[in-house]
Amino acid sequence: MKVILFGGSGMVGQGVLRECLIDASVESVLSVGRSPLGVQHAKLSEILHKDFFDYSAIEQQLAGHDACFFCLGVSSIGMAEERYRHLTYDITMAAATTLARLNPGMVFTYVTGRGTDSTESGKLMWARVKGKTENDLLKLPFKAAYMFRPPGIQPLHGVRSKTGWVNAIYTVTAPLLSWLVRVAPDHMTTSERMGRAMISVARNGYPKPVLESADINRF
Ligand SMILES: NC(=O)c1ccc[n+]([C@@H]2O[C@H](COP(=O)([O-])OP(=O)(O)OC[C@H]3O[C@@H](n4cnc5c(N)ncnc54)[C@H](OP(=O)(O)O)[C@@H]3O)[C@@H](O)[C@H]2O)c1
Repeated sequence: MKVILFGGSGMVGQGVLRECLIDASVESVLSVGRSPLGVQHAKLSEILHKDFFDYSAIEQQLAGHDACFFCLGVSSIGMAEERYRHLTYDITMAAATTLARLNPGMVFTYVTGRGTDSTESGKLMWARVKGKTENDLLKLPFKAAYMFRPPGIQPLHGVRSKTGWVNAIYTVTAPLLSWLVRVAPDHMTTSERMGRAMISVARNGYPKPVLESADINRF
């Protein structure tokens, strides 16, 4: 598979990138990001891009791909709905509509979160916005689209958050998180399982378009 990765510098994206680089079924990874990943690998190439609402300047490079792993996302904490919608719905749809037009045979996988609201009308702002984003992604003319709703994610294999105190918490709680992944797979997964699941689903498909924690933890 020729893969395009968005959000490769983030916690989820680092994990997905790692699995892509070690998985023989992934032929190449094209990362689209704002700053260099700092990773050198024969399979990896990068586009440093500024405007995530407009891809017209890089369309040629975005064509000819089999899968997109869209791990770009922001936290809604302290953010007004309009801003969160702009950075979540608008960025994702801008990229996805461009990719669907350029790659009709593409499988698009999107990372949302446990509790995403498909009705788009619940009480939680982030869940409504992610729900609308999922619903509209599923209408695009991709070969297939899959929505991943992870619970908490334990970073493994050197995957790190960009926030120092978050890393400190993950380090201190690592034994507890590993235990939770085993005993409460509805509440915790790992960066490794996320990456494996996204690759496997892009390659082989999955019986349903929305993957909850239990689905992700099967991989
Ligand atoms: N981490 C978890 O435990 C967890 C659990 C469930 C769901 N999720 C979801 O997974 C997704 C990724 O989370 P994460 O933890 O990986 O987040 P993260 O570590 O903060 O990474 C976010 C990624 O998105 C990119 N990004 C953010 N805003 C951008 C913008 N305006 N333009 C271009 N790139 C932008 C960042 O690029 P820069 O490096 O350039 O900032 C980075 O690559 C989010 O939607 C989140 O809700 C995460």
